[in-house]
Amino acid sequence: MDQKRTIIPALHEVYKDYFSIGAAVNSKTLSSDKELLKKHFNSLTAENEMKFGLLQPQEGVYTFDQADKLVAFADENGMKLRGHTLVWHNQTSDWIFTNKDGLQVDRDTLLARMEAHISTVMGRYKGSFYSWDVVNEAISDDHAEYLRQSKWLEIIGEDFIAKAFEFAHKADPNASLFYNDYNESDPEKREKIYRLVKSLLEKDVPIHGIGLQAHWNLYAPNLDDIRAAIERYASLGLQLQITEMDVSAFAWDDRRTDLTQPTEEILELQAKRYEEFFKLFREYRDVITNVTFWGANDAYTWLSNFPVPGRKNWPFVLDEKGTPKESFWKITDIK
Ligand code: GLA
Repeated sequence: MDQKRTIIPALHEVYKDYFSIGAAVNSKTLSSDKELLKKHFNSLTAENEMKFGLLQPQEGVYTFDQADKLVAFADENGMKLRGHTLVWHNQTSDWIFTNKDGLQVDRDTLLARMEAHISTVMGRYKGSFYSWDVVNEAISDDHAEYLRQSKWLEIIGEDFIAKAFEFAHKADPNASLFYNDYNESDPEKREKIYRLVKSLLEKDVPIHGIGLQAHWNLYAPNLDDIRAAIERYASLGLQLQITEMDVSAFAWDDRRTDLTQPTEEILELQAKRYEEFFKLFREYRDVITNVTFWGANDAYTWLSNFPVPGRKNWPFVLDEKGTPKESFWKITDIK
């Protein structure tokens, strides 16, 4: 073994002159990966526990326990916090869109409820979260469509996005506010995201960054498309954050279920991909302010259930035991 590899550097230390390094956590991993999180990461995001449905399951009934624990852990360990997420079409309680009689609410009611949620949540954590995904995934993947069909769009209209940012800015004027999306490097979707954010800036909507979710895999997207996306978004003069990075061991349409361990070939390819991605991120250190993995290590990842239920995946740079994979060494050897 390479002599140098006997000492494992802290990932966030290696990147201290570039950007903060984050992990998405949940209440389980916050305790099972405690030491690993402290060692390698200096930024955290709640994987699920700060989504609308979990924070406000009923009107005016907020469940802050898990989020409070996350904040306490981050504070104890001097870590930054990214808030995720305020307005989204998924994992949002149905009550917000309906009245007592089960009928759809009107625009003003929904806007008032949106504002109440944003101001309560951001108000509680003012100063703790330095950045927020204000609107998540509002762009459609459908070629013929610009914005995704959702209750937010249907009831409020296109300006639900601008309104969310205005409410968020009012709730915490110091927070950096992000529009966050996946398939962000796909040229067609990239242009729609660009169009949306540009239109917000033209209307003086308080938006400060674009979140590139970066749910990538061994084969896609290609590096040229990622670079083009970074360039295009950066041309708007905003900061960029890589918000949900994972590199699936399988191509999107690969439904194989025979593997119980990643093959050598997978690990090598993954290391090569990670090396290229982080080289690119370092190149754009002036615009990229954070890189967050959508998990901490291969023991737990949402990809072990998606898109193939029950199929194990190994998308990170630390293995199931939290030990560095070849991918880790490739991104920490930055001389
Ligand atoms: C999207 C959301 C995340 C998460 C992932 C899957 O990317 O933004 O909050 O739900 O899907 O874990």
